[in-house]
Amino acid sequence: MKHFPYLLLAALLTLSCSRPQPQPFQVIPMPNEVELGKGTFSVKGASLVMDDEMDPQSWAAVSRFVKAVETATGKPMKEGDGGFSFTVNPELEAEEYIIKVDKRGAAVQASALNGFLYACETLKQMLPAEIYGGVKAKADWVLPYATIHDKPRFAYRGMHMDPCRHFWSIEETKRYIDVMAAYKLNRLHWHLTDDQGWRIQIKRYPRLTEVGAWRDGTVVGKNWGTTDGIRYGGYYTQDQLREVVAYAAERGITVIPEIDLPGHMVAALASYPELGCTGGPYKVWERWGVAKDILCAGNDEVFVFLENVLAEVMDVFPSEYIHIGGDECFNGDAEPDRPDPWDVCPKCARRMAQLGIRRGPQAKHYLQNYVTSRIQHFLTEHGRKVIGWDDIMEGNLEPGATIMSWQGVKGGLAAAAQGFDAIMAPNSHFYFDYYQGQERDKEPFGIGGYIPLEKVYSYEPLTGVPAGSQKHILGVQANLWTEYIATPEHLEYMLLPRMCALSEVQWCEASRKDYDRFNTSLDHTFSILDQMGYMYSLDCRGLVGLDRKPARTAAELQSYLDAQPAGW
Ligand code: ACM
Ligand code: ZN
Repeated sequence: MKHFPYLLLAALLTLSCSRPQPQPFQVIPMPNEVELGKGTFSVKGASLVMDDEMDPQSWAAVSRFVKAVETATGKPMKEGDGGFSFTVNPELEAEEYIIKVDKRGAAVQASALNGFLYACETLKQMLPAEIYGGVKAKADWVLPYATIHDKPRFAYRGMHMDPCRHFWSIEETKRYIDVMAAYKLNRLHWHLTDDQGWRIQIKRYPRLTEVGAWRDGTVVGKNWGTTDGIRYGGYYTQDQLREVVAYAAERGITVIPEIDLPGHMVAALASYPELGCTGGPYKVWERWGVAKDILCAGNDEVFVFLENVLAEVMDVFPSEYIHIGGDECFNGDAEPDRPDPWDVCPKCARRMAQLGIRRGPQAKHYLQNYVTSRIQHFLTEHGRKVIGWDDIMEGNLEPGATIMSWQGVKGGLAAAAQGFDAIMAPNSHFYFDYYQGQERDKEPFGIGGYIPLEKVYSYEPLTGVPAGSQKHILGVQANLWTEYIATPEHLEYMLLPRMCALSEVQWCEASRKDYDRFNTSLDHTFSILDQMGYMYSLDCRGLVGLDRKPARTAAELQSYLDAQPAGW
């Protein structure tokens, strides 16, 4: 996927963003301390020293970088002084690194895998984009003299992936991980279960994938009333999941699985109807939106099921955190005239009575607190921590849960104020299924909304967080739901380059952020993405859509916008 002619055209079209002068140093996310020198170091056939103290994973990561340089330059490196050196410096934090490029060569220091990985990613972005191509290339194979001392602002730098609404192969998942790694993200939140498909093999409950992984149709376009009637689905075996976990770990990324509970569970209910309040029958959902049917909180067998499922999940995923969802249990937008099952289920009523929960609008939230708490205790006893969507704060949440703030920032701010850790993923800035351009008729489908690149970039995670609570903001994540996204090309288009803007929100100190500098650096990033073969949006260069139609003139755009309905 080469976009060169379009980039040329884009240079003439300065509709959506003005471009300042090119920068000499186009690394994204911008390192937190950079001092540029005068001169360059030639990497072609350079000599190499690697510290024997390096752990095997760091050794492998540095070796991948060395191989990339050797392949792209067409010349092997030889062992010896005066070129690259990679040294373990135990004084540095795990994600910190130092690079010094001068006439003596390029010296890298880090203490652990992530530091070495990030040093290599920075070095790669300092080289010509052809370093990402995986083939020998003619280019000016030099590194600029520079002293860089870098570490991230936030420890949690996440990106979410939804294989439930549309299913992504292991290969595409690895590509997603590759581009996350290139921009120094370190958590993949993998949303593995939902109403429209159960995607994780659970050996004890084979029907979850025999039945729950398949639906009999998918919404056609944006028309919720019509499905295509085509059987659709897929799932990952535990071996495949382990393969992804290991692949991500080699790239410094922890995979956090999400088992969304007690809502968003229709695929599980279709597999085991006895887990629902009514006993069904249920069908794996063929439409989008939020289902009314959820797990029955009054049935102890549901907890046996959840604990058995989570035991297998923990066996596959070594992450400190397990995401237990918890969103939208009572937002069911299908069957508006039907009551919420928890309001009319005798088993749920009995449970509420046992717990002393009084009838009223909050009762369901207290019952959800009970579910969250039981699962939280189970996971804590097994040495794990829970993350839940901000909905789990309704009622009385027990201490120890981490809140993922998606309904704007208010959940995260409230969580931090109450002493809960929080991850900021507000739908005001980080829902990458929203449109990124204003011209919806030229864009591939978004779910709605409008989150352009500059809006993503503008987010400041600590706004409104008092100094004493700031330690609770663990980091930032973007979510990419895939109701309307069915192809890898479209997925990447929605992801990129917004994920690059996200990476600066996650990595850079506030004083290092500068949208003009970032925007200019995107030219290099677009060349890198071309080399890696990713699709990406060029909305910020005035080229709209997957087939890269040039944008309208400003006057045409205005009349188009005037004709659009208000809101979504
Ligand atoms: C969500 O978007 N329902 C977390
Ligand atoms: Zn019930």
